[in-house]
Amino acid sequence: MKICVLGGAGYIGSHTVLELLKAGHDVFVIDNLSTGSKEFLFDEARFYEADCTNQQQLLDVFQKESLNGPIDAVMHFAAKLIVPESVSQPLSYYYNNVFGVITLIQSMLESKIDTLVFSSTAAVYGDHATGFCQETDVCQPINPYGNSKLAAEMVIQDCAKAYGLKTCIFRYFNVAGAHPSLRLGLDKSTLTHIVPITVMAALKQRPHVTIFGDDYPTFDGTCIRDYIHVSDLAYAHVLGLEYTIKNSSNEIFNLGSSQGYSVKQVIDEVKKIAPLQVQMGERRAGDPAKLIAKSSKANELLKWNPQYSLHDIVLTDYDFRLKRLNEEDNRSKVSD
Ligand SMILES: NC(=O)c1ccc[n+]([C@@H]2O[C@H](COP(=O)([O-])OP(=O)(O)OC[C@H]3O[C@@H](n4cnc5c(N)ncnc54)[C@H](O)[C@@H]3O)[C@@H](O)[C@H]2O)c1
Repeated sequence: MKICVLGGAGYIGSHTVLELLKAGHDVFVIDNLSTGSKEFLFDEARFYEADCTNQQQLLDVFQKESLNGPIDAVMHFAAKLIVPESVSQPLSYYYNNVFGVITLIQSMLESKIDTLVFSSTAAVYGDHATGFCQETDVCQPINPYGNSKLAAEMVIQDCAKAYGLKTCIFRYFNVAGAHPSLRLGLDKSTLTHIVPITVMAALKQRPHVTIFGDDYPTFDGTCIRDYIHVSDLAYAHVLGLEYTIKNSSNEIFNLGSSQGYSVKQVIDEVKKIAPLQVQMGERRAGDPAKLIAKSSKANELLKWNPQYSLHDIVLTDYDFRLKRLNEEDNRSKVSD
């Protein structure tokens, strides 16, 4: 199948491009490189620098790609996703994450593309009452990022009904880790996630990691989250794409491991690789005590079962960062 990966130069998008290529699909990438990087692109997947809020740019790419056969589906990863930034700049989040989806669907309809796979987030559940999230639960996001993703989901679902689109919405839990080849990984300066921050403390790229609150109603007092390796997540997209096209379906799937680990457990896992400094801090506003995916729907319908453990997640992130550090080191030695 011919697949457009929108946001394919980013962390999850690039891992998905790799899985799609491995599965034999014909792939092209659209990305504005706002947070993505050209080094995560593949020669086998054609690249177009374009913005999903610009309809003419999308139409031009779709027209060019359609010349040698129809486009079967778009996978949409192109979003802004830093929660504190979404609080201070909500308009840019709604513009990119909601208007971007509207513009994409308009362009898909004009270009006769009828299948959309969309990256959503566990943030749509908000401060969940039990901490075990199911796709049918009420969604009450607690920040503009989560609101923008839920609004995008609503646009997609309404358009699916009105225009006969086939759609697959994935709600990711805590995505982390790097591709085992270390060719791809999470490489950003604006990281807010616990796994990379803890690994960076272990590599002395940060002085310490801070635990925000140890008085939550959990077994060790720290927040519990569900961690999923990025390659497991990427592979779910291949399965979701095939399922959606085969069944002409409109489904929402949680993607998580269905297992919770506390912040202290994650830090302990990193400490098995290298020592690091830990600091205690106050609770942060809006951090739910526990968020764990019920992923049985993806397990049953897509036959998807995550392969990587928390140890694999931490180790691949560590090895990826160490490799980058060594490369930087070598480059600076050469230029000295
Ligand atoms: N990383 C996580 O932990 C996580 C968790 C839940 C959901 N998600 C969702 O997964 C998706 C991908 O996240 P990621 O971690 O790979 O982020 P990322 O920033 O690495 O990737 C996003 C990519 O989209 C591109 N992009 C952004 N806006 C664009 C636009 N207007 N036009 C064209 N390209 C644009 C960026 O340049 C980047 O390459 C997002 O939709 C995000 O909301 C991520």
